[in-house]
Amino acid sequence: MYGPRLRTNIAPMKRRTALKWSLIGAGGAGALVLGGAGTVAYFWADARLDTVGKVAFDTPLAVPPLAESTRDASGARRFDLEIQSGTVAFKDGRETETWGLNGAFLGPTIRAERGEEVAFAVRNGLDEGTSIHWHGMHLPAVMDGGPHQEVAPGGDWAPQWTIDQPAATLWYHPHPHGRTATHVYRGLAGMFIIDDDADLNLPRTYGVDDVPMIVQDRKFNDDNQFDDTNTFLSSQGLLGDEIMVNGTLGPYFDVTTRLVRLRLLNGSLSRLYNFGFGDGRPFSLIATDGGLLPSAWETDRLQLSPGERVEIVVAFEPGETAVLRSHAADEGYTGPLGRLNGGDDTLDICEFRAAASLDDATEVPETMGAAPDLADAEPAEERSFTLTGFNQINGESMDMQRIDFGVREGTVEVWEVKNGDGYLHNFHVHDVQYQVISVDGEEPPPRLRGWKDTVQLVPQRRYRLAMRFTDYTDPNLPYMYHCHILAHEDSGMMGQFVVLGEGESIGEVPVVDSAHSHG
Ligand code: C2O
Ligand code: CU
Ligand code: CU
Repeated sequence: MYGPRLRTNIAPMKRRTALKWSLIGAGGAGALVLGGAGTVAYFWADARLDTVGKVAFDTPLAVPPLAESTRDASGARRFDLEIQSGTVAFKDGRETETWGLNGAFLGPTIRAERGEEVAFAVRNGLDEGTSIHWHGMHLPAVMDGGPHQEVAPGGDWAPQWTIDQPAATLWYHPHPHGRTATHVYRGLAGMFIIDDDADLNLPRTYGVDDVPMIVQDRKFNDDNQFDDTNTFLSSQGLLGDEIMVNGTLGPYFDVTTRLVRLRLLNGSLSRLYNFGFGDGRPFSLIATDGGLLPSAWETDRLQLSPGERVEIVVAFEPGETAVLRSHAADEGYTGPLGRLNGGDDTLDICEFRAAASLDDATEVPETMGAAPDLADAEPAEERSFTLTGFNQINGESMDMQRIDFGVREGTVEVWEVKNGDGYLHNFHVHDVQYQVISVDGEEPPPRLRGWKDTVQLVPQRRYRLAMRFTDYTDPNLPYMYHCHILAHEDSGMMGQFVVLGEGESIGEVPVVDSAHSHG
């Protein structure tokens, strides 16, 4: 048996709703501080977290190992993933109880090439059911690892598919309905890097000048265990006050090359990061969720909501140090909500220490990936989605047995998505990468012009997303679309669609036998 059961996150969050709305009604930040109860005023003043200069940066950044693989008889590249519980010495004193894949915390980086067939042997060594979802991957619904593919305790799962999408930084994480947040928080997550044969001279030596960075916040209790209670007054569930990268608290990284490519993943449950460097240095955005941009875009800030990834290339001078930081959010909150949900926080994340001399053999090429090409496609269907509260899309909550709609294989659709309140929401779609074709009728900002599978929804703006559905029809087994704030997803801010072949109509979702999936 493993550790104490996790408390459920949903009930306490709902109890606070009334209080939260009355705060918002009070007329914003000033009124809240001056007029509210003394405890609220105190809390408000105390709610902004600033760790600049306070993080020790005394531990080398852990780089997740590359997953080993073998070639099986069918020619597929086969990986073994063992989901297990363990303990990690994050701090002095008692070790923290964790979950991981092929280890105690997080999982190995999976790496495969476009065109390759991959096969997984996933074994669930936990005492409760979970699943492994391949976030960002184009694959059959039955292999997707969502809520309909739970693996029972002690059970196995063997998904297999052919990778057919451009080079990209994807990730994998559990997706059991209602329990995704606690499973990710315990430590189940990893990166999935797709390579293709584009012969670019980008930094590409894993762990040297091509560095995965799984950025997550955690809160520890006095006994060094992960504290998974919701943050007071937060509308997003849990916010941690310590940042770990690849499971390392206070990480530093030894830089040996002039150019370093960072694959940044916001692997947090609910925290927004606004990445930039302490000295304001510019860097190049080279890839978004679905792959390389046609050409790099220079910036000094990149805001990522949970689930989003970017690849950036940073230049270093010999002998210098630089700190990767998360700055206060640039957009996404209105009124006092930002302060109460980490939007005003400034957080030191990782220190980079450049060697006295640096190799200089790579470059950021003029041209890299193919530009998204769906802006002028004639949509077969337009749909709209409004996300509100903690658990609703178009006024409905997730029902495992309800298929919300079917899309036709081979067609392009445009989905107009809106955050209908002031909470933090984003929008993720399984199976496809989409193109943000406009935001409030305007061309999207450069950071949203590449292929995306998750996009932050700034309140009240209309995001038009164009996506093409190809392959893998299945009238019965749905893909998900949802808010990736995991407390919202778990409460039901999620819907389901199927991809239909010609002449097919929506079928019926097989009932999952979950009798033994809760340990
Ligand atoms: Cu990253 Cu439906 O998930
Ligand atoms: Cu996903
Ligand atoms: Cu949300």
